[in-house]
Amino acid sequence: MASSVSSVVVLDRGNNTTCTINLLGATVVSWRVNNQEQLFVSKLAVFDGQKSIRGGIPLVFPHFGPWAYGPQHGFAKICRWEVEKQPEPYENGDIEAIFSVVDTPFTKQMWNYSFKLVLKVVLREKELQVGLNVINTSPEPFQFTMLFHTYLKVPDVRKCSISGLHGCMFVDKTKENSIYQESRELVTIDNWIDNIYQNTLQEHIISNVVSGRKMKMVKYNLPDTVVWNPWDVKASTMSDFGDDEYPNMICVEAGAVMTPITLNPSNTYEGTIILQVM
Ligand code: BG6
Repeated sequence: MASSVSSVVVLDRGNNTTCTINLLGATVVSWRVNNQEQLFVSKLAVFDGQKSIRGGIPLVFPHFGPWAYGPQHGFAKICRWEVEKQPEPYENGDIEAIFSVVDTPFTKQMWNYSFKLVLKVVLREKELQVGLNVINTSPEPFQFTMLFHTYLKVPDVRKCSISGLHGCMFVDKTKENSIYQESRELVTIDNWIDNIYQNTLQEHIISNVVSGRKMKMVKYNLPDTVVWNPWDVKASTMSDFGDDEYPNMICVEAGAVMTPITLNPSNTYEGTIILQVM
């Protein structure tokens, strides 16, 4: 990748189990469990800070979706973050690192509030925990939406299924934001999908990820889940995504996006995901 060595931080738990965070957006760009990569990053991803890294786990804040005041999905993904705590092992061998970013003139042009974001990453034997704290350092309340835009690597997306969506209302962005109710116990994908599911179960199981295994995603304070794959037609319009890459990724994105969160001064909102290779 094009970023310099100093702009990535690696958590190493031994046994070829590692996690790499690029300080551009504090984006988790790699998670290897016993040397097997679990996250998808496009071969055409760009790391110049003009847009988010196409893959890994970009952070969406303070706005999910197209935004009148700034880039789609907000600015957190294109800010340069600081390392607040270098990777450090717990007694049990798990590794923790902490990253942060605060408002700047660049963020204030788009969103005129003071804030601090703190991202805590914990690497366990077969788990990755990523938690984002939003802290309101403004003298007034603000509203925001947030999401972990997780790109999972899969051998063939047509063979994957996602649990935890049955009965949920969803906005189908491929059908001019029509609203439906999900009738399937397990959602499968055989075309362009861009669904925003509301009030989903706390846990999703995604089948047939790397090596035919299952991946569990558990989410905290994140009521909604977006499922996205651009398929071939949309892929061809994206300059940072190969035309042939869509079968090898699935985005299952935990967030708080349907109803904006209101945060009072000095308060903190914490949203967390835990990914577990089963
Ligand atoms: C998803 C959105 O979360 O992200 C899609 O629901 C969007 O509509 C996709 O196309 C990718 O967004 P971007 O800004 O990273 O190209």
